[in-house]
Amino acid sequence: MPALSRRTFLTGSAALGAYGLGLGGASLYATASAATPITLEAKTANALLDGQHLTKGVMTYGLESASADPMPPTLRVKRGEPFAAKLVNRLDEPTTIHWHGLRIDNRMDGVPFLTQPYVYTGDSFDYAFTPPDAGTYWYHPHCNTLTQMGRGMTGLFIVENPDDPVFDAEIDINLRDWRLGSDGQFIEQFKPRDAAKNGTFGTVRGANWQVQPAFDAPAGGLVRVRLAATDVTRIYILKLDGAEAKIVALDGQPLAAPLALDQVTIGPGQRLDLVIRMPESEDQTVSLSDIRPSTAKVVATFRATGASLKRDLGEVRPLPANPWMPPDLKNAETIPLILSATAENAAKESFCGSLGYSFWAINKVPWPGDTSDPMAPLAELKRGRSYILNLENPTPHLHPIHLHGMNFQVIASNARAVAPLISDTYLVLPDEKVQLALVADNPGDWVLHCHIIEHQKTGMTSYIRVT
Ligand code: C2O
Ligand code: CU
Repeated sequence: MPALSRRTFLTGSAALGAYGLGLGGASLYATASAATPITLEAKTANALLDGQHLTKGVMTYGLESASADPMPPTLRVKRGEPFAAKLVNRLDEPTTIHWHGLRIDNRMDGVPFLTQPYVYTGDSFDYAFTPPDAGTYWYHPHCNTLTQMGRGMTGLFIVENPDDPVFDAEIDINLRDWRLGSDGQFIEQFKPRDAAKNGTFGTVRGANWQVQPAFDAPAGGLVRVRLAATDVTRIYILKLDGAEAKIVALDGQPLAAPLALDQVTIGPGQRLDLVIRMPESEDQTVSLSDIRPSTAKVVATFRATGASLKRDLGEVRPLPANPWMPPDLKNAETIPLILSATAENAAKESFCGSLGYSFWAINKVPWPGDTSDPMAPLAELKRGRSYILNLENPTPHLHPIHLHGMNFQVIASNARAVAPLISDTYLVLPDEKVQLALVADNPGDWVLHCHIIEHQKTGMTSYIRVT
C-alpha cells in the first residue's frame, strides 16, 4: 500500500472504500476473506513529533506491511465482520492491547491478570472478535500505560457501517500530545503534584503525530471527521472556525438527531464524529481549536480544494443506530460509585506501571495496581439484569470514567441537562452526580477507571463482575 502524504485529498466516498486508508496512517479493511490475522508489532521507533527533532524511544504499533508512517495504523473493519490481530511484543517490557469501546468477549479485553496474561517480550497474543457496533473506537495497551501510551501507543479503530450515509471525504484524527523537552526528547512523564490534581500535561500539542496538521477536503463538500482523544491527560473543548458542522456521533454512538456544533468538550478516551460543510471556494480554510482552559490553540486545519460540490449541511441525516438493549429502569439495582481523593499512601509494587503513589479511590478503595492477586470486584452483576451506576464526584477535578465491555446510557445528572446518550466513557464534572444505566449483558470481569492515566494508575480503578 503506498504511503500517502498526510496532506491527502479524497474525492468521493468510492475513493474511501478503494483506498481503505485513513488520513495520517496506513489502515486496512479486515473483511471476511481476511480472516487471517494482521500482525501488530509493539515496538520502539524514532519519530519527528515536535516538527524539529527526532524523538528517540517512541513506542508504537506497526503492521508487517509497514508504511513509513510511525503512527499506529488506523485499523478499519466493517460492522459484523470478524477481525483478528496477532500482537507481537518487540518492546523490552510486557504489554497487552485493549480495544476501547468495543463490546467484545472478555478474553479479548486486554487487561493483564484480569482477562489475560501479560504478553512478555518476544511473545505474542491472538486477538479475534467481531465488532457488534459501528463507530469510532481506539486501541491502546493496558500495561505500564502512562509510559506506553504517553510514548505513542494509541491508535484509531474504525468500524464502518455499510449503511452509513455517503460523505465526500473522511479525515481521521488521533488527538494527543507529547511530553518533550526543548531538545525534543521525552521528559519525566508525570509530576506527583499534578497527578494528584488534573494530571501532568504534554508540552507539544499534536494531531496525527504532527503539530497542527493541514488537511485538504473538497470545497462545498460534506466531510466526516472522526476524532479520538487519546491523550493521557488533556480534556479538550473543541470549536470550529470558518465552517459549520454537525456532531453525528459521540463515543462511537450515533446521535438520534445530529447536533449543530458550537463547542464540545471531550476527555481522554472519548470520540467525536463531525460532519463539516467545507467552504465554497478553493483555499478557504477551516480551523479546529481547543479553547480549554483559555488561550485557543489550533489543533488542525482543513483547506477547501477544487470546485464547490454544493452540498448542504441540512442534508446530514442521523447515522443508523447501533443495536441497543434499553435498561429496565424500574427494576434496576443501583450501584454507588464514589470517586474520591485518598490519603496518600504507597501503592503496592507492580511492574505493570504502578506510579508508586495512591492519590485516588473508588468507594474509598484505591486500586493497588495491576497485581497477580486482584482485589474483589466493586460489584457483582447478574447477567441480563439492569443496573444504574450512581456516580458521584466530590472532587474538584474532572474524571472521564470508562467502563470496559458494555455501554451505558446517561439517565440523569444533578449538574446539567443530559441527553440519553449511549457511551463507554463519561466525563464527570466536579460535584456532579450522574446516573448511568446498563444491561449487564456481557459476562466477565470489566475494569472501570478514570481515563486520565495518572488518576487510573494512582487508585481510580476498579472492576465489576458480570456472571
Ligand atoms: Cu481506554 Cu481501560 O481503557
Ligand atoms: Cu480522574
